[in-house]
Amino acid sequence: MMKVEICEHCAGEEMEEVIQGFKDFEEALKEKSMTLNVEKTGCLGSCQGPVVRVNGKVYTEVHPNEVEGIVSEVLKQG
Ligand code: FES
Repeated sequence: MMKVEICEHCAGEEMEEVIQGFKDFEEALKEKSMTLNVEKTGCLGSCQGPVVRVNGKVYTEVHPNEVEGIVSEVLKQG
């Protein structure tokens, strides 16, 4: 499973776009038998939004065009 948590306090205007960015990979993940779970959450402790935690690893200042890189990083880790 790819668990994506996004802090709704500091994500700002890009929050929905970042969320959609992850959802755009849902089909590709399914092909790898991976489910995607995206949820908004409270402060993740880094506060340089958008802050996203993916399978426990925190990424700060995540902009929509960086989502693809994060997804492939996670997939490489298996
Ligand atoms: S307020 Fe968003 S991570 Fe702290």
